[in-house]
Amino acid sequence: MRVWRGDATGGELVDYTVPVEEGEVVLDALHRIQATQSGDLAVRWNCKAGKCGSCSTEINGKPRLACMTRLSTFEQGETITVTPLRTFPVIRDLVTDVSYNYRVAETIPAFAPQPRPADGAYRMQQVDVERGQEFRKCIECFLCQTVCHVIRDHEENKPAFSGPRFFLRYAELEMHPLDTNDRRQLAREQAGIGLCNITKCCTEVCPEGIHITDNAIIPMKERVVDRSFDPVTWLGRKIFRRDQLEEAQVPQGRAE
Ligand code: SF4
Ligand code: SF4
Ligand code: FES
Repeated sequence: MRVWRGDATGGELVDYTVPVEEGEVVLDALHRIQATQSGDLAVRWNCKAGKCGSCSTEINGKPRLACMTRLSTFEQGETITVTPLRTFPVIRDLVTDVSYNYRVAETIPAFAPQPRPADGAYRMQQVDVERGQEFRKCIECFLCQTVCHVIRDHEENKPAFSGPRFFLRYAELEMHPLDTNDRRQLAREQAGIGLCNITKCCTEVCPEGIHITDNAIIPMKERVVDRSFDPVTWLGRKIFRRDQLEEAQVPQGRAE
């Protein structure tokens, strides 16, 4: 194993030779290094079942979950190199600060359902249920975020780009038939969906197999374009905005 050791000030790759057993995964090997050679090796994990999204690292340069990467996928004797997620600042060793993602999450308006019908039962088409279920499989491992070239080596793009995980969230809410918010302008202006050029790298690394680009980003881009460039919508917005402005300018006492 070759494991990156260090902190925010710098670090280096350190070699370890680790005995392994059949059926083990990269996380097992890292734990064995912790247990037998370097008790201070920092690695984040929780479920060891591919469900918590904590053990995201880059293994031989590819963003992967350490707990779901079997050692048997590598050639016998091959050196396995494990490095921290490149898109986020290192805290120590393999642990990165992914708080950028939580800050982005906070900027997306929450689900705002319509009032319940008289009988109290919301109804949705099965196709809408299934679409949402695919998006909700996300375990927030942020592997898609780390692979996205818009922010991978471009810290300066982060304030204007939410990244694929959050385009997924926009799409989930926007396509929900019971939601009342319109987030299309936000997706364009705040989330920077226009910067995505549909390379599909995010889809390739998603451990949940979510079709991020085909099912979320592309339909979301279409909706944003419809809102921004459809001439009828554009005219409607212009008139509506002018009415609002005129209303706001009516001096007090003359509103009636
Ligand atoms: S498809 Fe878009 S969001 Fe996904 S990695 Fe490529 S540029 Fe980033
Ligand atoms: S969309 Fe997939 S890769 Fe991205 S955070 Fe969710 S589970 Fe991870
Ligand atoms: S430890 Fe939970 S996803 Fe790997």
